[in-house]
Amino acid sequence: MTKKKTLLGAVIAAVALAFAPMPAHSAGDGTHAYQQDWSFSGVFGTYDRNQLRRGFQVFREACSSCHGLDFISFRNLSEPGGPEYSEDAVRALAAEFTIADETAQGGERERIPADRWPEPFESEQIARDANGGQLPPDLSLMAKARGIHQDFPYWAFNYFTAYQEGGADYIYNLLTRYSEPPEGEEVPAGLYYNDFYGTIAMPPPLSDGLIAYEGEGTPQTVSQYSADVAAFLQWTADPHMVSRKQMGFRVMIFLVLFAGLLYLVKRKIWRDAH
Ligand code: HEC
Repeated sequence: MTKKKTLLGAVIAAVALAFAPMPAHSAGDGTHAYQQDWSFSGVFGTYDRNQLRRGFQVFREACSSCHGLDFISFRNLSEPGGPEYSEDAVRALAAEFTIADETAQGGERERIPADRWPEPFESEQIARDANGGQLPPDLSLMAKARGIHQDFPYWAFNYFTAYQEGGADYIYNLLTRYSEPPEGEEVPAGLYYNDFYGTIAMPPPLSDGLIAYEGEGTPQTVSQYSADVAAFLQWTADPHMVSRKQMGFRVMIFLVLFAGLLYLVKRKIWRDAH
């Protein structure tokens, strides 16, 4: 094979790998995570605005009574690339909540878009007391703090597929895999069994039909709610993922072209040397 063909082969192999689908794990293998096909997967993935809106609705109705979202201000919900609610909608939403303010009459005022999403509990102790001693963690960065385990060689593909959805996959699996404990295993009172996580202090927060989505066409199932809220939490943890991937891809293209250019220059310079 000539050098040219080897180089071409390497480029084609790299491109093919980058677009190869991730091998999914088969069902029933314990704590392995089932990976979802997210709209924001891959090099060209983007957040789906409607999914982020549904995910915010799920968070608000099914999670926000226990979990905070400390790093999210109301105005973030109207920023480009997110749920993109109108500024008026965000102002109205913020005004549904109050915040302590010494300078306001009565020591309290309505929230404004620059305020943070409200905390569910007044203190950590109250939060623990309400949850059998366990603290429901803040969810704003949860999708960054958790990931899924992959065996070799699967994780090696991640470099090519720009896989950064481990957090969303983790949350999806956690929410969809509450089940009966395996035979012979006792679940202590106040705890719940989850086939993905093990025993956990969080009661199953979702059930089919729990949340009424506007419009028709989106299934109102645990699986759909879980995917939507996981996508929303991926966005809260990593709102710039899309632009970062796009930039990364441009850099890769540039490097490939640049390598080709260097090769041609090298050939030209050394042309008469043999
Ligand atoms: C009734 C309160 C309650 C509700 C409602 C609730 N959670 Fe939780 N959650 C908890 C508690 C308590 C823990 C800590 C569990 C533990 O450490 O055993 C937890 C833990 C978690 C974790 C972290 C698991 C880990 O890896 O450490 C995630 C993620 C999570 N919840 C997501 C959600 C989402 C998403 C929703 C809404 C769909 C939700 N929770 C609704 C109480 C709640």
